Amino acid sequence: MWGLSETSWKGGDLTGRVALVTGGNAGMGFAVAEQLAVHGAKVYMAARSESKAGHAIRQYQQLHGLGAKGSITWLPLDLSSVKDVRRAVEQLRSLEQKLDILVNSAGQMMADYALSEDQLEMSVSVNHMGHFALTTMLLPLLRNATGEDTGDVRVVTISSGIHSKISRKDLGGSWDMDRTFASDAGHVNSLRAKVLRYAYSKLLNILFATELQRRCDRESIPIISMSINPGLVATDGALELYPTWLRGALKAVGRTPLQGANAALFAAIAPEVGLKRAQYRGSYLNSRGEVDRASDIASDAQLAAELWEVSKMIVSKDLGNEDRSEKLTPASPHF
Ligand SMILES: NC(=O)c1ccc[n+]([C@@H]2O[C@H](COP(=O)([O-])OP(=O)(O)OC[C@H]3O[C@@H](n4cnc5c(N)ncnc54)[C@H](OP(=O)(O)O)[C@@H]3O)[C@@H](O)[C@H]2O)c1
Repeated sequence: MWGLSETSWKGGDLTGRVALVTGGNAGMGFAVAEQLAVHGAKVYMAARSESKAGHAIRQYQQLHGLGAKGSITWLPLDLSSVKDVRRAVEQLRSLEQKLDILVNSAGQMMADYALSEDQLEMSVSVNHMGHFALTTMLLPLLRNATGEDTGDVRVVTISSGIHSKISRKDLGGSWDMDRTFASDAGHVNSLRAKVLRYAYSKLLNILFATELQRRCDRESIPIISMSINPGLVATDGALELYPTWLRGALKAVGRTPLQGANAALFAAIAPEVGLKRAQYRGSYLNSRGEVDRASDIASDAQLAAELWEVSKMIVSKDLGNEDRSEKLTPASPHF
């Protein structure tokens, strides 16, 4: 039986499967990493802080003891730097021949305006560009896993229903990756600007996930790519967005990180997804794991194709002339 109990996801045996979860040290990412490992997967917890990753791994060991079938190992990764993404991919490629499950969960929510080292707006940099670089550089490993017995390879990107706040007018006909969404320079940290920057990055998540599917289909690579709207979940990151006095009440009534991770876990491991590939390929799932309709813009194939090309160009530029390795540029030239 598939689904949630109070403390665990009831699922099949994932022994022999290799998984990577970004943001695996906290919130829904931790719940996903934990449940994949409990079911036998070898999980890489991609996180930027050694102490936070160590704390999360100890928490996993305390919860599940030495009896757990799978394992969790820290993989250092800072998604705000394309160079660091490349370093992390090189590290993983020195350790593993294949990757069966990639869950892109890490995210910055409604943060103050800042620029990443690659001169991109930080939510775009972490939520979209880091995941774009990571996924495309990991394609050779994902592809290797498609040749396995199960051949069931999934890429799951956590987006949000908030993506629908972005209108075509907001896009303004260009792919500006340093958009403030502020009416003027003095308002870069207004609530409206922070919400729109976050919503924009979550729109990019869906466009990326659907375009990844199209490109895999075109190349006959049997990977299933999906994006998720987890709904409102009482993770520490989400609670921080509310005043302190409200957090206790929200935590008491809100959905737990494990409940919030339900749809991502379904997308990552439920056999139903593999059995009904046509239904799930490139789909956008709601918090119950049902195929849902994203906004019109998020469903626009031309926008998705343009975003891919722009993202690919930015990643190549950020890696600059240092990158002599064809294998670690974002996918192959025709992909
Ligand atoms: N919670 C909700 O209500 C909700 C609703 C809709 C969508 N979502 C989406 O769901 C995903 C998970 O959210 P959550 O609530 O579980 O978030 P969370 O508890 O705030 O966890 C966010 C994770 O992202 C990591 N992260 C942030 N910046 C990073 C960077 N530069 N490099 C690597 N990792 C980085 C954090 O690492 P550190 O611990 O080092 O900061 C943390 O592990 C996000 O993509 C979010 O947008 C959440």
